[in-house]
Amino acid sequence: MVKIISKIMKIGICNDHAGVQWKNQIIEVLTSKGYQMVNFGTDSTESFDYPDSAHPMASALERGEIDLGIAICGTGNGMAITLNKHNGVRAGLAWNTDIAALVKEHNNANILVVPARFIPMEEALAIIDTWLSSEFQGGRHLRRINKIPLA
Ligand code: RB5
Repeated sequence: MVKIISKIMKIGICNDHAGVQWKNQIIEVLTSKGYQMVNFGTDSTESFDYPDSAHPMASALERGEIDLGIAICGTGNGMAITLNKHNGVRAGLAWNTDIAALVKEHNNANILVVPARFIPMEEALAIIDTWLSSEFQGGRHLRRINKIPLA
């Protein structure tokens, strides 16, 4: 008898004050789809410095404690800039579903960054769904992403 053990995917989520409401909704939706969510973000709408949640999530990804990550701030740029300081991270900003597909297919982004102040929540959920269901194409894209790390 062949025993199939399917691993529950663990997804980290980090956010600053601009992304609290989105974070809560995203956790609810993805939990209902069977993902295990790990919260690295603030739960308060008080001003919060995005690196204080981005670095812990990136380190957890590098240690293999989570499989993928989602990051939310106002523009997405603060999160992306911070997360991409980590060699084990490829964080890609997406603001529509076409870019969400390409950021997985071409860049194999292991963290998806979404800009809470510039797109509607429904679009963010569609972006996340597209990114999760898209697959890395490998080939020339693998050659390119292998050239990214500095050390
Ligand atoms: C917070 O006001 C804002 O600066 C932050 O959410 C983000 O957009 C930074 O890049």
